[in-house]
Amino acid sequence: MAVPIRNYRIAAIPGDGIGMEVVDAALRVVQAAAEVSGKYRIEITNFPWGTAYYKKTGAFLPTDFQNTLKQYDAVLFGAVGYPDVPDHLSLWGLLLKMRGPMQLYANVRPIKCLTKPRLADVSPSDLDWLLIRENSEGEYAGHGGRSHMGEGWEVATETSIFTRHGITRIMRFAFQAARERPRKHLTVVTKSNAQRHGLVLWDKIAAEVAADFPDVTWDKELVDAMTMRMVTKPQSIDTIVGTNLHIDILSDLAASLAGSIGIAASANLDPTRKNPSIFEPMHRSAFDIMGKGIANPIGAVWAAADMLSWIGEKDSGAAVMAAVERVCKAGKVTRDMGGSLNTKEGGEAICRELLEKK
Ligand code: NAI
Ligand code: MG
Repeated sequence: MAVPIRNYRIAAIPGDGIGMEVVDAALRVVQAAAEVSGKYRIEITNFPWGTAYYKKTGAFLPTDFQNTLKQYDAVLFGAVGYPDVPDHLSLWGLLLKMRGPMQLYANVRPIKCLTKPRLADVSPSDLDWLLIRENSEGEYAGHGGRSHMGEGWEVATETSIFTRHGITRIMRFAFQAARERPRKHLTVVTKSNAQRHGLVLWDKIAAEVAADFPDVTWDKELVDAMTMRMVTKPQSIDTIVGTNLHIDILSDLAASLAGSIGIAASANLDPTRKNPSIFEPMHRSAFDIMGKGIANPIGAVWAAADMLSWIGEKDSGAAVMAAVERVCKAGKVTRDMGGSLNTKEGGEAICRELLEKK
């Protein structure tokens, strides 16, 4: 009996700047992966949400975006931000407006060295990490405000929120993720010497959850010391978990150590699967190169590979990553990685690798 072809619906939100360029390239790779597999079809709907939409309508997203996105299996997002709109408006108007309310509480950022490591004395195998960021509360909970605006005594508060529920769910997710990796080691990052309330609770809950994962070894590191350890002892690191702000910062460092921010991917997951998860490159909208067509598409392609695995097509996700590794080895890459291809050619090189292995 013939096995029916599986159908997936993907929402694409290319957003702004190089987001549009790299999502286009990544979607071509997704379609090539579906063609190679022959077992599923991908139907893509494009949503023009972002700064242009904001300039037209006054909002980055329509109010019923959650209901709209619920009709999709996953979302591929590009980037947000435009030079003539304040960054906090675009970030809170689009990306952070989706992550928190959609309960995409686990932000997963794999780091692998697909090119030469940034530091001479680091070997590529030293940089195989999984960064896990609490993605729904903490420093980016949105609590705070401003009073006496414009006066000499103007005041602003920016309150971090750490809940037992929020910490427990990300900690369990991180221990489970560490368990599934060969080294089974987790580093819990905090700043619990100085931030003596919320992050002491992080430490306490880490120890509680660790008791349920006796096969996972774990240690703790303060975030400032962690930046040093990532540079001086990268081989001592495997899986990392930390707060919304801390992993935001550490992941830029991690991606740069591994070669280029243009290759790193980021998955915003709702592990309960009540909401579609959002997959995006780790980079932002890169004002300095937008419109030039030279952005590295690999971050977005890697995100698309993670998306394929998440919706159930693990073989395809792995095939895409194998193709990415082959183009990197062959030097068929963009300028930021020392190659000479543009975005479109970089994406096409990956598609060709995939189709040739068919
Ligand atoms: P960025 O990541 O866009 O760029 C940093 C540097 O890396 C730039 O020199 C850029 O050319 C390079 N780069 C980034 N991605 C690349 C790629 N794919 N290929 C080659 N080179 C690449 O960071 P930046 O410039 O600080 O941020 C730009 C805007 O994005 C700001 O307005 C920021 O607020 C906004 N933003 C967007 C977020 C998102 O879309 N996820 C998150 C936070 C901020
Ligand atoms: Mg960031």
